[in-house]
Amino acid sequence: MAAVGSAVGLGNIWRFPYICGKYGGGAFIIAYLAFVFLLGSVLMMAEFIIGRRSQHTPVLAFRALCPDKKGWGLVGVIGIITSFIILSHYLVLSGWTTGYIWHSVSGALSALGTDADAITAFFSQFTSAVGSPLLFLGIFSVLCLIIILCGVQKGIENISKLLMPLLVILILVLCVRSITLPNAKAGVDYILAPAFSKLTGEGILAALGQALFSLSVGMGVMIVYGSYIPANDNIFKTAMWITVCDTLIALLASLAIFPAVFSCGLDPAGGPGLVFCVLPNVFNSMGGTGVFFSSLFFILLMVAALTSSISLLEALTAWFCEHTGASRKMSAILFFALTSIIGVFISLSMGVLNDFKILGYTIFDLVDRLESIYLPPLCALGTIIFFGWVMPEKDIKDELSNHGSIAINVTYPLLRFLARYIAPLGLLIVLISGILS
Ligand code: PFF
Repeated sequence: MAAVGSAVGLGNIWRFPYICGKYGGGAFIIAYLAFVFLLGSVLMMAEFIIGRRSQHTPVLAFRALCPDKKGWGLVGVIGIITSFIILSHYLVLSGWTTGYIWHSVSGALSALGTDADAITAFFSQFTSAVGSPLLFLGIFSVLCLIIILCGVQKGIENISKLLMPLLVILILVLCVRSITLPNAKAGVDYILAPAFSKLTGEGILAALGQALFSLSVGMGVMIVYGSYIPANDNIFKTAMWITVCDTLIALLASLAIFPAVFSCGLDPAGGPGLVFCVLPNVFNSMGGTGVFFSSLFFILLMVAALTSSISLLEALTAWFCEHTGASRKMSAILFFALTSIIGVFISLSMGVLNDFKILGYTIFDLVDRLESIYLPPLCALGTIIFFGWVMPEKDIKDELSNHGSIAINVTYPLLRFLARYIAPLGLLIVLISGILS
């Protein structure tokens, strides 16, 4: 459940629809599904197995499993850097979500009615300001820190067992409302009728990056979680369960968003603000109950963001403690402080620092690309080559079969084939062609 909490987050509800809209709707979804099941789920099993077998955090895990080839630890280093970047960015987005709880409860969002332009302008004003996004970034970070320092992660896990299904029910309600809006059919067609011409090389790379981001793989976090998996848990089933849940939620989120996008006359390729500009319109079209549904939705989204942020922090903290011997509390505070500081710059790049560009990108866009398009595929490639070609086969079989107590005569050959050939080749081709294009 903790790993589901890590996987299900803003990536499913905020990021998936906006990336999908940018790269062609249905065609993107087909590429995404292929990556999720042929690559993402395989990688998740690989990370779980590496973590549980080694009982170490990313860098030492690679080294421990192959003591004579210590260079593989570098893959873990890329993972840790990626987790750090993602957490910095994630805190900013979670801050927006926290802000939208306040704006829902205070009635500011419902006052905008169903005027799409006013809702879009509200979002731009909110995110490009200096004070309020930083205030909500701070509130969210402190909340995370308190949860971790009080050691109530277990509590959060229990809460998310209750709240995650509630989030799914609420998304279903939104789907129904969205599909029954006037002119919603264009949005359904947009998902179901693939526009392959819009799916460029970069779009395919984005689908891969999104698959990895959404499943929280390709950054070593699942290696850390793997090291916590009890010896008698079935790794294959666990990974498949997480993959299916995560994918269903992303698909449902797009079914809730795109019909409304078309109904409101918005641009499906509208970028990172898509969810924040579309959903208030749907809520406001619900009449008097809109404020309630809107507040509940953003609260649930914040909880989903919380469980994902905690997993990122857990990976960074566990890694730092293992290498330096520092206490968990000190490490958690250190990483929250560092990522929040970077988060401030990411947030300001939506407004006052908008003209500050690195390689032609704002800090926000650069971080977004680094955390999905470039770094995770690289780390994923290293992990899968290590898993398929370097790590002793006996270790893999032992972990997959729980020391011989589960039959693996179908799962093992399949996993081996995907991990040795399909996944690395797919990753290489997409990485090279995406970068070249
Ligand atoms: N999977 C999370 C989401 O979809 O929102 C984001 C994420 C969490 C990525 C944890 C990476 C990670 F290690």
